[in-house]
Amino acid sequence: MFKERIYNFSAGPSMLPLSVLEQAAAEMTNYRGSGMSVMEMSHRSKVYISIFDETKADFKKILRVPDTHEVVFMQGGAWLQFAAVPMNLISATGKADYAVTGNFSSLAMKEAKKYGEIRVAASSEDKNHTYIPAQSELKISPDAAYFHYCANNTVYGTEWKYIPETNGVTLVSDMSSNILTKPVDVAKYGIIYAGAQKNMAPAGVTVVIIDKKLAGKELPYTPTMMRYQTMIESDSMHNTPPCYTIYMLGLVLKWLDAQGGIKGMEKIKTAKAKILYDYLDESRLFKGCAAREARSDMNVTFRTGNEALDETFAKDAAKAGFDNLKGHRAVGGMRASIYNAMPTEGVQKLVEFMKDFEIKNK
Ligand SMILES: Cc1ncc(COP(=O)(O)O)c(C=O)c1O
Repeated sequence: MFKERIYNFSAGPSMLPLSVLEQAAAEMTNYRGSGMSVMEMSHRSKVYISIFDETKADFKKILRVPDTHEVVFMQGGAWLQFAAVPMNLISATGKADYAVTGNFSSLAMKEAKKYGEIRVAASSEDKNHTYIPAQSELKISPDAAYFHYCANNTVYGTEWKYIPETNGVTLVSDMSSNILTKPVDVAKYGIIYAGAQKNMAPAGVTVVIIDKKLAGKELPYTPTMMRYQTMIESDSMHNTPPCYTIYMLGLVLKWLDAQGGIKGMEKIKTAKAKILYDYLDESRLFKGCAAREARSDMNVTFRTGNEALDETFAKDAAKAGFDNLKGHRAVGGMRASIYNAMPTEGVQKLVEFMKDFEIKNK
């Protein structure tokens, strides 16, 4: 039993900024004099439309989404996009190329295989996904309808540090675990998609950024709700959108703006991750799992080399208020997910706890 909030290092759903939760709580039963909770509003009401419009405008402004692109709010998680991307894009040539750098990119590729000829453009499987292939290792064919990569590998703790050059092939990225953590040159992408439950909002909404010229060429059997053109034409309101989650995203975007916007967020997250990685580099007990140059600033994977000790660490840490540090079963060891809402203090305190644990387990 904890009287206070703990530091929750969950890979997702994960922490939300405390001030956002408090504001949502204060507005829960009567949103700004409307006499209703946001949960109770018609998605077509004036009051809700103003929440929706402001959230979308703030998102576009914060990520500097150009006019060539549209932002739509979908449901079904990033997983639905594993199918929606090929269904909407593959008709151009019937073929697509995928970089496999972790489990989610591998799952995305497997899903896409139902809709066309899918080829591996690069893979980091030979070293258990501890690194990111270099540009020179990417085999992207000119006849690919698109090239897909996962910008941050949540499970393995690696992150692409460069935007792949595709020589004209449409670029698609799953940014579920690092969207809104650094500036992105959106114009370079055909599609960016991201589930909300790490850096944006509670689970339930998936943000998709689409180059508008790519929409409307979907496979004929694409479900209406998976057609990007439908989402664009209806401004994400073809049916009832995940209203409350979009409202929460709006609150998070205001909070993010107050942190200095995307540049401010980038500074904070870089410094935050460095605290943990610097300690891992000097520790004689804990070792980082990812190759140094591919380290993710969002998901920090590490281990002691002794499975029983890893288990003890995760358990002791949870008791001390640092929860969800057990690594994904595909990697083992530990994983600290330090998304935007994790305060710097949480990472500093975790490092203090790790140092103590190291002394006790020499
Ligand atoms: C990079 C990445 N892609 C996709 C997913 C799947 O997301 P969802 O559960 O929203 O379908 C996750 C979930 O953790 C993820 O981290």
